[in-house]
Amino acid sequence: MNFSTEWDRRYKELTHLSIWPWSDLVGYVMRHARPAGKDFRVLELGCGAGANIPFFQSLGVEYFAVEGSPAIVEKLWERFPHLKDNIAAGDFTLEIPFAGDFDLVVDRSSLTHNTSAAIIHCIEMLHARLKPGGKFIGIDWFSTAYSEYQRGLAAEDAYTRTGYQDGSFADVGRVHFSDKPHLLELFKGFEMLVMEHKTIQRELPDSGWHFASWNFVAKKP
Ligand SMILES: C[S@@+](CC[C@H](N)C(=O)[O-])C[C@H]1O[C@@H](n2cnc3c(N)ncnc32)[C@H](O)[C@@H]1O
Repeated sequence: MNFSTEWDRRYKELTHLSIWPWSDLVGYVMRHARPAGKDFRVLELGCGAGANIPFFQSLGVEYFAVEGSPAIVEKLWERFPHLKDNIAAGDFTLEIPFAGDFDLVVDRSSLTHNTSAAIIHCIEMLHARLKPGGKFIGIDWFSTAYSEYQRGLAAEDAYTRTGYQDGSFADVGRVHFSDKPHLLELFKGFEMLVMEHKTIQRELPDSGWHFASWNFVAKKP
């Protein structure tokens, strides 16, 4: 596996169990990649506890996901038995274990827990598996302007950090951060249609914490 097994342990401890769809993801899909019909094929990278699955089900699309935590995948199979063949436990930076091409790939803060080299390899694989005109929607790709970037310990490359012992990245292994040139470089085989930088400045308690992430839409030409 290219990525750490920390997530499996976090889910077994019943932490990080987000089950409500992420509003940015819903907004981006509806605005930039509204599914055309039931043949529309969506691949989610790292579906976690399945927050976005009911949203895609309500759209009636064909949904697939690769998730690295066997523990959470077991739970998803119990909750969505009809998706047993569509949700795979595995490392999406190594293999997408489904046949056929996709209209849309979505990722909310999942590739962001891998090294730059693994992310580049995964994006190359996905480029080959997207239909022409297909889109990649990235939500909450952590920005180097996020205060957590400065707190992390150096890892494999300049954009990857590790060693968090508190905060939302505590014990999750690697965290990857991007600036605009890096994100454009990662998706150089794509046409970047939209890039938005989201920032949240916490005023109280005044601990110096500020959040920053990228939401974006990249299209395969
Ligand atoms: C921050 S959680 C996000 C979960 C979900 N996307 C959400 O927004 O609720 C990151 C998820 O990505 C998964 N993940 C990270 N790297 C992975 C990889 N290389 N292969 C498979 N899953 C991975 C983790 O197991 C974890 O479930």
